[in-house]
Amino acid sequence: MQQADFCPIVDLNQALADLLTQARQMPISGKVADYIPALSQVAPNRLGIAVATLDGKVASAGDAAVPFSIQSLSKTYALTMAMQLQGDELWHRVRMEPSGQPFNSIVQLEWEQGIPRNPVINAGALVIADVLASHYSASINSFLMFIRRLTDCQSIYIDPKVYASEQQHGSRNAALAYLMKSFGNIQSEVPLVLEQYFHQCSVAMSCEQLARSFLYLANRGQDPVSGEQICSRKDAHRVNAILTTSGMYDQSGEFAFTVGLPAKSGVGGGIVAVVPNYGVIAAWSPPLNSFGNSQLAMHLIRALAEQLGLSVY
Ligand code: DON
Repeated sequence: MQQADFCPIVDLNQALADLLTQARQMPISGKVADYIPALSQVAPNRLGIAVATLDGKVASAGDAAVPFSIQSLSKTYALTMAMQLQGDELWHRVRMEPSGQPFNSIVQLEWEQGIPRNPVINAGALVIADVLASHYSASINSFLMFIRRLTDCQSIYIDPKVYASEQQHGSRNAALAYLMKSFGNIQSEVPLVLEQYFHQCSVAMSCEQLARSFLYLANRGQDPVSGEQICSRKDAHRVNAILTTSGMYDQSGEFAFTVGLPAKSGVGGGIVAVVPNYGVIAAWSPPLNSFGNSQLAMHLIRALAEQLGLSVY
């Protein structure tokens, strides 16, 4: 495939190391997520960045090889799987519009008859988890196998402490799922759907693995390293569209305005941004702003995108 004309950089590893040095001098603003208590155990000064490019190379700096809780980043993988299983039917159960509400909001769901605004707010991700739980006999295993295939790494795991913590403090997600069940938009039993969803969020991965695993989205659905078609070109387009309009929740507009890349955040402090025809950037810093997005990871991605001229607009 023809690569677009991005600003050349002689040594990407050095550029990332320089960015991290600058970022470390910035005051830490934001707060590590504690509504899932296991997440609050992570040191706030962790900082990492990785860039995977379509030629299969991965450049990185800082804590880029340290696994952390991927949380809502997992919604991207689950959505890719569910789109393949349900085709266009899926879009009768979940919409593709920004919500204009916090990621775990419940109010909109009552007004809109149990149809979530998009697949990356928690309500939408629960519908997606239901698609997987209803289709596969061992859906958690199928999900994990999918990520292992995308990273070519068999050691990717689910953190049992994070999973237990999510289950113990998951009343709001349970409320969302039961409300949708009352509208007929959840097919499996709610505890099964929650089990699937909490396991997905509890997967641990590093920036290097995350960047590698999202490459299919930068390459029209095809893994550029293995050559495998992970999803159709149309589905890759659609996932990127959802990430652009909703991946950073109520800050998606600002992210498009300042960075100009499809991206997904997670309350573990990770952000992954897709650069079509070039590669993927993954950054990690645990303290979050009021939207639930990592303050410093956003800064790092913005700075790199500016330096390399990566905006899609
Ligand atoms: O369900 C939750 O609230 C978490 N397991 C995931 C939320 C999340 O990562 C939102 N992202 N910024």
